[in-house]
Amino acid sequence: MTFDRSIKIAPSILSADFADFGREIQAIEAQGADWVHVDVMDGHFVPNLTFGPPAVAAFRKHVKTVMDVHLMISPVDSYIDAYAQAGADVLTAHVEAGPHIHRTMQAIRAAGMKSGVAVNPGTPIEAIEHILDITDLVCIMTVNPGFGGQKYIDMTAKVRKLRAMIGDRPVHIEIDGGMDPKTAPLMAAAGADVFVAGSAVFKGGSVSTPEVYGANIAAIRAAAQAAL
Ligand code: DX5
Ligand code: ZN
Repeated sequence: MTFDRSIKIAPSILSADFADFGREIQAIEAQGADWVHVDVMDGHFVPNLTFGPPAVAAFRKHVKTVMDVHLMISPVDSYIDAYAQAGADVLTAHVEAGPHIHRTMQAIRAAGMKSGVAVNPGTPIEAIEHILDITDLVCIMTVNPGFGGQKYIDMTAKVRKLRAMIGDRPVHIEIDGGMDPKTAPLMAAAGADVFVAGSAVFKGGSVSTPEVYGANIAAIRAAAQAAL
């Protein structure tokens, strides 16, 4: 993975057909997805359950781009090696998930992955100020995590503050929740480069009509690029 600040679209397979992940991943990548976003939920840190390491390892066989794994679990550290084995390229943990986010970022990098930290809407961005030198990605949540298809919560002021805090460091700013052609431009203008989108990518399409995914991805990308 090389670093740049170009606009990247990361479809969340939380909105895919759960009986057909292999073909869904192939379809979104063929239709222009830059990264594939995998939402891991534990029914404890968030009120929903999704994928353990064996499921993520199975997705890996189909992902040719970047597998971006978003852990909404607590505790985190005891699972880092399992998700490394499963083939995550980027592993993101929540700053709210435990008392030792600095150690978590070190452990993710030590396991050979890019380190990500996610920040809930109610958490001040200053919470991650002192880990920016050991962090590769900051994920700003624009919904309260747990479910796809929720309404966007405006975080433009937080993203602008983060962009200034990052300065010249090679740290991605990712936005997760309610991203579509109307909301993505606000975040692009504030400094974000990675846009997670579940409902807005999978809406109206299927593996037999993948061109709909392509049009949805292109619309988010064009809107975000136009805001720069
Ligand atoms: C929310 C997840 C998101 C979610 C986004 O807990 O982290 O990645 O799938 O879904 P949309 O784009 O539908 O808001
Ligand atoms: Zn996510």
